Amino acid sequence: MKKILFIIFVLVFLYLLQNFILYNHKKQSVIFYKNGAVVTAHPEATQVGLDVLKAGGNAFDAAIAVQFSLSVVYPVAGNIGGGGFMIARTKEGDVYALDFREKAPLKSNRNMYLDSNSNVISGLSTFGILSVGVPGTVDGMVKLHERLGSLPFDKLVGPSVNLAKNGFLITKKQAARLNYYRKHFLKINSENKYFMKDNWIEGDTLFQLDLSNTLELIKKNGRSGFYDGIVADKIVQTSKNLGGLLSYQDLNEYNSVWREPISGNYKGYVFHSMPPPSSGGVALYQLLNSLEHFDLDNIDNNDFKYIHLLSEIEKRVYADRSEFLGDIDYYNVPLDNLLDSSYIKSRIKDIDFSSVTNSKDINPGVFNDSESEETTHFSIIDRWGNCASVTTTLNTSYGSKVFVEESGFLLNNEMDDFSIKPGYPNTYGLIGSEANSIEGGKRMLSSMTPTIIEYNGEPFLVIGTPGGSTIITSVFQNILNVIDFNLPIQKSVDNYRFHHQWKPDTIFVEKGLLNDTILRDLNSLGHTVLERSSIGQVNAIMIIDNKITCGADRRGDNKALGY
Ligand code: DON
Repeated sequence: MKKILFIIFVLVFLYLLQNFILYNHKKQSVIFYKNGAVVTAHPEATQVGLDVLKAGGNAFDAAIAVQFSLSVVYPVAGNIGGGGFMIARTKEGDVYALDFREKAPLKSNRNMYLDSNSNVISGLSTFGILSVGVPGTVDGMVKLHERLGSLPFDKLVGPSVNLAKNGFLITKKQAARLNYYRKHFLKINSENKYFMKDNWIEGDTLFQLDLSNTLELIKKNGRSGFYDGIVADKIVQTSKNLGGLLSYQDLNEYNSVWREPISGNYKGYVFHSMPPPSSGGVALYQLLNSLEHFDLDNIDNNDFKYIHLLSEIEKRVYADRSEFLGDIDYYNVPLDNLLDSSYIKSRIKDIDFSSVTNSKDINPGVFNDSESEETTHFSIIDRWGNCASVTTTLNTSYGSKVFVEESGFLLNNEMDDFSIKPGYPNTYGLIGSEANSIEGGKRMLSSMTPTIIEYNGEPFLVIGTPGGSTIITSVFQNILNVIDFNLPIQKSVDNYRFHHQWKPDTIFVEKGLLNDTILRDLNSLGHTVLERSSIGQVNAIMIIDNKITCGADRRGDNKALGY
């Protein structure tokens, strides 16, 4: 008897001790910063951003330095051979959207991925040189610097040159990825010299000398260090050797664009997000606006009712995305209609809690008056309150897997984000139509949703994530986590996520989100539910009472630092 009591005592003691440790660990993990913070997908890039802030640079200087550094230390998605989007908010409260999305090469055409029977040729839009769009990142960073930068451009590219030349230590996840993709690199490149090692392990040093020379040219010559001269020659030559379409004209004519952000209100908060050619801002607007018609008071985060309601709303929004969204410079995207509150209300009027609307019964709306994976997001705030929210990508992991010969960088496979055939799903299962058909010079539709939210005229949230089609719903759910459920930002980022994109008619949930009861309730209502590996990697900054807190997604090697 004594022995049993002793064992029970020990077990209770251990339980209490464990909880004490966990509790204190959680408490310690909330760190507040006063002056500024940087959250990126890699500790080295975060450090570079922080160094720039501490050296007196603003958030936009730090964004430029981080973007170039990620092309070195996070080559799976960080890039100079890809593109991206940025929402910038200045300390004065001006908000800008920068579109440095890739464009279809001028020689592309709408049938380029179809065989003579109009069937899709598998893999052509995702792998190899024909999947490559004209890169936009370097032009984007130069434009950003011209408008909002404060330190000299070469000082911002400098750290990336050093990281490429002197090498950096790869993480465990990076080692595993490099080993996994080795066979893909070998298959596609005429010159097999990059990232080639039989077995990468955590802590190995990755040196990238060719890349450091390329970055040195960008550092010295800005835009023309990439779009002219030796790097341009190598891009065109690599493309030619592999049977691609990229030309000098494509490189000369590439231009990133400042656009008007999509802005709206949600429960007194003002959000700003990315307009077309990303679908992110429009979809986020529709999601938040739809949700305001429902009372969340008696609904718990991630319970049955919550998952049902959000999935029903998401289906309707993604149906619109597939029909109406594309590059606004080439297609007349009906923005006014899509953002009209009575239209949005009409779309959700048949949602109820006791039945599921089958996706095949949902069509894109009709207007009354007659749109293994990798991307990366980083968030930055500086001591003056300037904010940068940047999502940047090669599309899937390491993009097309094509290295530009002797230049050491990878080209994107963004062309797959076009609708390569009406109704044919892209890598993320998204379907599209005329609005997103291929045309030389046009930008492919994106889901990237870099977002900044203000409260009482002050920055409140800087947020975004990778994740292909799931980007929009991950940003959406994190906004609800912090505004409706008052979660601290790190908890919000760690919280399980789920996703519905209309077609397939399935709720995708992260492993661990559902208990048996919720799963049973969803199934018995008629939902198809599929568990999948992690969704997205949200990197966010939240500011409350002038105190900066960060959420760096634990699903990856993401890292937050501030001061
Ligand atoms: O622009 C888009 O929507 C996609 N190319 C993004 C790809 C992505 O997020 C991959 N990351 N997991």
